[in-house]
Amino acid sequence: MQQLEYTRIAIVGLGYVGLPLAVEFGRRYDTVGFDIRAARVDELRAGHDHTLEVDAAELAAATRLRFSAELDGIRECNVYIVTVPTPIDVAKRPDLTPLVKASESLGQVLKRGDIVVYESTVYPGCTEEVCIPILERVSGLVYNRDFFAGYSPERINPGDKQHRVTSILKVTSGSTPEVADFVNRLYGSIITAGTHQASCIKVAEAAKVIENTQRDLNIALVNDLAKLFNTLGIDTLEVLEAAGTKWNFLPFRPGLVGGHCISVDPYYLTHKAQEVGHHPDVILAGRRTNDSMGEYIAGQVVRLMVRKGINPVHARILVLGLAFKENCPDLRNTRVVDIVQALRGYNTEVDVFDPWVDATEAKHEYGLDLIDAPAAGSYDGIVVAVGHRQFAALGSAGIRAFGKPSSVLYDVKYVLPRNEVDGRL
Ligand SMILES: NC(=O)c1ccc[n+]([C@@H]2O[C@H](COP(=O)([O-])OP(=O)(O)OC[C@H]3O[C@@H](n4cnc5c(N)ncnc54)[C@H](O)[C@@H]3O)[C@@H](O)[C@H]2O)c1
Repeated sequence: MQQLEYTRIAIVGLGYVGLPLAVEFGRRYDTVGFDIRAARVDELRAGHDHTLEVDAAELAAATRLRFSAELDGIRECNVYIVTVPTPIDVAKRPDLTPLVKASESLGQVLKRGDIVVYESTVYPGCTEEVCIPILERVSGLVYNRDFFAGYSPERINPGDKQHRVTSILKVTSGSTPEVADFVNRLYGSIITAGTHQASCIKVAEAAKVIENTQRDLNIALVNDLAKLFNTLGIDTLEVLEAAGTKWNFLPFRPGLVGGHCISVDPYYLTHKAQEVGHHPDVILAGRRTNDSMGEYIAGQVVRLMVRKGINPVHARILVLGLAFKENCPDLRNTRVVDIVQALRGYNTEVDVFDPWVDATEAKHEYGLDLIDAPAAGSYDGIVVAVGHRQFAALGSAGIRAFGKPSSVLYDVKYVLPRNEVDGRL
């Protein structure tokens, strides 16, 4: 197996996962960041990352990192790390197109002795059943004789400046004991939090996908409880705070479950489960609950309006926040759009304001025209949908100032004190 110092790394896919990894490897190893989007490569060459995961100083500190939008740019590498998206399609089945395309590209540059490490979140078996056959077919090389593979899932959390790629313990694996050891040492050389070497690729794949499935189910339970407590007239947060005084009660909060991971990854697992005849009823029940929260929240807001004597038809409602989570510009799979859609279904007129989000992207992805700034005294209802720090800083008085004198203020994210809002999840 090759020595670490001769490692030339290609990171394939420079998104939320790939770029921070490329920057860390690029401090220590000759590294090429490869992406099919030339515009992304151009902005990174200019020292700018629009995802805000890496700042200009961090980019500059990666002195051995180059960028390329051409496959030729990674031909000289010997370790290829794949960090392309793994979305679901409209029927909520895994869409492996980016993974298949990236594997086809890598098949064209693969050489004897090379190692391909997948980081994209997949179901157990995907690397060896889907990706490796493509690499073999395109390259003409034989797996575990001419080239090797690994799987090392990523655990970063967009917008989280505390848990960075190097400070999160990393699971690693390889297609032979020697490769597993090499992959583990390679990551161990940049991950200060250490590594956990899984026994095989499938174990590492399964570990990642159940981390997010467990989160999804825990949130689904709390969402279900929130609906129940609301019917019973009990405040959910007060119950959770009381229960949370027990040492082993888990501190989950209700809410929308969007984004690229928690609301998507369970479907990779349920797909594989169904393929082998296992009925993943518990996992799918959680998905159903979490996917219904936008509509539930809209229903609650309209109910509160009606009870205050506000006719929802043509009422103006302000939704604060569109990103899938607080203090980050990431719009992917945001479920705030479910609230907006459901509110519009009641014939209300909805404005959406989000200081973090790129308005062009919101228009492109969801057909939504974001407003530049809410006007004072304009709204019959206000929904704090995302806990951005700007909304917390406004406080209830600042937020209520956007409303008419008898408007409804609903807090999805517990940004405001309970007694200062009309309703909360
Ligand atoms: N974002 C997260 O928080 C997170 C956390 C852990 C794991 N993951 C997983 O990591 C993977 C990547 O996620 P992400 O959030 O970085 O995605 P992303 O959409 O931010 O970035 C993916 C990048 O890959 C590029 N790309 C697509 N196809 C390509 C190809 N064939 N060749 C080269 N580049 C290609 C895209 O242009 C894009 O820049 C996914 O499997 C995801 O589930 C994401």
